[in-house]
Order: sequence, then structure tokens, then C-alpha cells
Amino acid sequence: MDSRTVAAPAAKAGVAPVPGAVQLPDATRTEVGRLAQSLLEEALCEGSFGRLLVDLDVEALAPLFAFAPQGYTRRVLASTSEAEILLMGWLPGQESTVHDHGDGWGLVRVLVGTAREDRFRERANGELQVMTTRAIPTGAILEECPGDIHRVAVPSRHVLVTLHVYAPRLNGCRSFVV
Ligand SMILES: [Fe+2]
Repeated sequence: MDSRTVAAPAAKAGVAPVPGAVQLPDATRTEVGRLAQSLLEEALCEGSFGRLLVDLDVEALAPLFAFAPQGYTRRVLASTSEAEILLMGWLPGQESTVHDHGDGWGLVRVLVGTAREDRFRERANGELQVMTTRAIPTGAILEECPGDIHRVAVPSRHVLVTLHVYAPRLNGCRSFVV
């Protein structure tokens, strides 16, 4: 497996920075990016994204795996006006902010390693309280719905790679300080 550690590049113009994440150049012009684009367009026609996450397998995506000590990496694999596919690489100990997904809906497949997901509920006074914490093993798929507030982390000494599809594209996500 190619698990390169990369320097943090400048965020691409037009890509909203995500707190705590390192935005890598997109891969839409690579061979696997073109495959992802055709699968995404097919999935949009079918109205189902589950198969897409399985058809984009570890072997095809491995050349794009990348990690950064500054934070987890995000890379756009494919995008349309209605949806996008992202690949993320996480080093041991890294975690996302606590965040929601705006009005977006998403599926996340763990390609390599095990993720920990903490789900929160927002109290009437605005405070956040952890509701559940669970492990998401290799191969499992996590659903992210509008209104969900969570944090993804790497609980082990091993890297984590996750594949994400969002529809509509992520926009208006909130990050929370807890
Ligand atoms: Fe999320």
C-alpha cells in the first residue's frame, strides 16, 4: 500500500477550507477519478449510492492514499452539481472537528483501519452532549444525515482511510467547539 505522507498544500481556489483538514489537489482527472465520476453519474441516475462505495475498491484507490501530520487529508475524487465523492486519509490520533453536514446527506465507507465515531446531541442551551461512541470497522458503512452532529477519530495506532459520498455536495457545515 502506498501510504505517503505529504506536506500541506494551499487549498484549491473554490474549495471551502474545512477546519482541521488538509485539502489535497483533486483527483478528478486521474484514471480512478474518471471511474469515480462515471459511477457517481450512474448512482445519481439510479438514486442509490451504496454500490458506488463498494465498486471503488481499495486496490483502485490505493495510489491516492495520502496522510499529513497537520491533519486528516481530504481529496475530491468526483463531483457534479448534485453530489461529490471524497477520499480521506487519517494518521493515528487524528480526528475531525465536531461537525454537522448542513443539509447534506452522506455515506462513509471505511476502506482501511477502524474509525471511532462520537455522536452528539445539541441541548436547548446550545451545549453538546455525547450520545454514543462506537467503532466502525474496515468495510462498514456509516450514514450521515442532515441534523447529525458527530466527530470521526482514529482510535488505534494504525492509519484510517475513508471514502465519502455526499448529496448534495457539502455546504454550510458547522463546526462546534466542545
Ligand atoms: Fe461527518
